[in-house]
Amino acid sequence: MAPVKVSKICCIGAGYVGGPTCAVIALKCPHIQVTIVDLNQARVDAWNSPDFKLPIYEPGLEDVVRQARGRNLFFSTNVDKAILEADLIFVSVNTPTKKSGVGAGFAADLNYVELATRRIAAVAESNKIVVEKSTVPCRTAESMRTILEANSKPNCRFDILSNPEFLAEGTAIADLFSPDRVLIGSLQTSEGLDASKSLADVYANWVPTERILTVGLWSSELSKLAANAMLAQRISSVNALSAICEATGANIDEVAHAVGFDSRIGPKFLRASVGFGGSCFQKDILNLVYLSESLHLPEVAAYWRQVVEMNEYQKRRFAKTVVDTLFKTITGKRIAVLGFAFKADTGDTRESASITLIKDFYAEKALVRVYDPQVEHEQIWMDLTEAIPGTPVDSIKKQVTLCPSVLEACEGAEAVVIATEWKEFKEVDWAQVYSKMEKPAFVFDGRMILDADALTKIGFKVTTIGRGSV
Ligand code: UDX
Ligand code: ADP
Repeated sequence: MAPVKVSKICCIGAGYVGGPTCAVIALKCPHIQVTIVDLNQARVDAWNSPDFKLPIYEPGLEDVVRQARGRNLFFSTNVDKAILEADLIFVSVNTPTKKSGVGAGFAADLNYVELATRRIAAVAESNKIVVEKSTVPCRTAESMRTILEANSKPNCRFDILSNPEFLAEGTAIADLFSPDRVLIGSLQTSEGLDASKSLADVYANWVPTERILTVGLWSSELSKLAANAMLAQRISSVNALSAICEATGANIDEVAHAVGFDSRIGPKFLRASVGFGGSCFQKDILNLVYLSESLHLPEVAAYWRQVVEMNEYQKRRFAKTVVDTLFKTITGKRIAVLGFAFKADTGDTRESASITLIKDFYAEKALVRVYDPQVEHEQIWMDLTEAIPGTPVDSIKKQVTLCPSVLEACEGAEAVVIATEWKEFKEVDWAQVYSKMEKPAFVFDGRMILDADALTKIGFKVTTIGRGSV
């Protein structure tokens, strides 16, 4: 059998991964009909909104959707119809860390993947290539295959591929237009290799073929976890060094620059910060820890666990620096937190360091004033009520205020904390901010984005992560 020529794609899950990825596939492959489906009606309505008020903020995404929507890109809640029609189905549903049961706090919750897989089996009436797009634990494809084969109609065959997504939020469109690599894992049977070729041909419409890597199914699944674990490990390494810098008077920026000049190490992902966030790093490392433990490899599990523990330490260490510097108490003091998203250029707040900081400041009875240029207020209240369990939102609101601008957040504050590296924070008129604050006015730069010397000249007392005052 020759590889199938894909003409209709269905993507199950219209989230941060499925939405941008399949919108770009539609843009780059005008001959392929792409339907992105989701059970969440509000989300689908937002993707379809006449004024392009899309459910996620991602630079360049609106332009992609404007060009392809209604041409060969469609958003729908009719999951069954899209499954029926498609030759190839991406499963791009959420795989959060389990909150209860076996592996709680570590293992991925595969309930959404399983439900989507069962739906495919129940509905499909012809052969399908089923592609795992969501990050999943190693050997999930095996479970998907078992479910599909046990529930499929006669004469329906399913080929499972793993095609993990490596896009980073905030640069998703650029990453999708020009990926470092596209990874496709398949069984090494002739059918598996044919399916792999069918998907590779889709990407070959815009990705140079030497960047399309085809490997075994399990290697592909593990590579995604490995890539994220190694990226996060670099950040934890540099953050660990930032603590040494602060204690010795070294400067982490200079250290990272010097270290990154080694061509074997390279300069990327060496920026010390208040701690990494996002939906992937912590989740994927915990997944790797769980996998290692299940494989009776406790030393391996402990090694990776330490990357997450260092990240928690960094967040707590930074919050403690704020309290200690403000004369060991922030009770009743106004603290402006600038940035709530887990990184710049996204409205996503999952695992954002801001949440931990605000939680700690709340526990210290500070009056926290938050400003973020993208994150919806409703999302902030949801995150804070989840982070401070057992406390009604009205109680939290007595101590936390959401502000419409940097200036309003800083009005009457004793300290400003930079939690996200939004460009606009660099461009603020800091002299004006200074004039509105209590004195002494403190700045805590958790992202190393401000000009500490210029701020000191204005009169601020500046603390920058990874920079010692010794
Ligand atoms: C990550 C991976 O980069 C991507 O390949 C994968 O598909 C999903 O997970 P993402 O979480 O969207 O992407 O963003 P990323 O740019 O990796 O940043 C993650 C966190 O690390 C952010 O909080 C960021 O601020 C932080 N970070 C990043 C640092 O603290 N220092 C750095 O040098 C780089
Ligand atoms: P990610 O960051 O991995 O893209 P998101 O949570 O942003 O995760 O998106 C996953 C989407 O998948 C959600 O919008 C959710 O409603 C959708 N979803 C989950 N299960 C199903 C399913 N069985 N059928 C259709 N959509 C689903």
